[in-house]
Amino acid sequence: MNARLSMGLWGLAIVLSVGVAILSYRYVPQIGPLSPEVMANLFARPWLMLHAGAASTALLVGGFQALPAVRRRPALHRGLGLTYVAGCFVGGVAGFAMAFGTTAGPVAGWGFGILAVIWVYVTGQGWLAARARRIDAHRRWMIRSFALTFAAVTLRLYLPIGAMAGLEFAEIYRLNAWISWIPNLLLAEIYLRRRTMRGLQPA
Ligand code: HEM
Repeated sequence: MNARLSMGLWGLAIVLSVGVAILSYRYVPQIGPLSPEVMANLFARPWLMLHAGAASTALLVGGFQALPAVRRRPALHRGLGLTYVAGCFVGGVAGFAMAFGTTAGPVAGWGFGILAVIWVYVTGQGWLAARARRIDAHRRWMIRSFALTFAAVTLRLYLPIGAMAGLEFAEIYRLNAWISWIPNLLLAEIYLRRRTMRGLQPA
């Protein structure tokens, strides 16, 4: 993929991430249009406010971390990085708690629950690698981590598609709990493998 196309795609990913993050913050004060099905989650109180606030913050800052202009400024990269990691940890723990209270049933619950565990694990590995100055490993883990954070965007892109296909909320969420993140993770893995085969750094 040429450099201009990949920068363009990354720019689009950042615009979508920032947009979804800003819209999702409404679940913190719980004002504006809120999904009644999500509000009916058994563990929405107190976990939804915490999840929406923390995970949206991770989504808001995560995409900027890969930009050369940010990576060239160590203090900025570190500050945004710690904010991102804290957002993923708190968002992941709260997301895990809510996975078991979803009104969409156990298939959705397992999908979100497994996503939460992998999200926290992968981000933790990226953080540990940064602390140990294993920069190549740090980039690899963080590319995987952001592919999972980006599930919040892919999920919201699939919602209207599911609705147009005539699916109910629970059916869409059952599917989304899996397809919002597995293809993202596979794409990240394919990208990392191709870079390695060409002897390039992953980002
Ligand atoms: C990647 C790991 C994530 C997991 C495991 C996860 C898990 C969940 C779960 C279980 C629910 C409740 C669904 C229901 O009750 O049916 C939910 C809702 C929500 N999540 Fe996440 N989530 C993740 C990422 C994110 C991110 C990155 C954001 C940032 C925007 C986010 C924002 C929200 C919001 C705003 C809701 C409430 C309603 C809605 O679907 O718009 N989540 N999440």
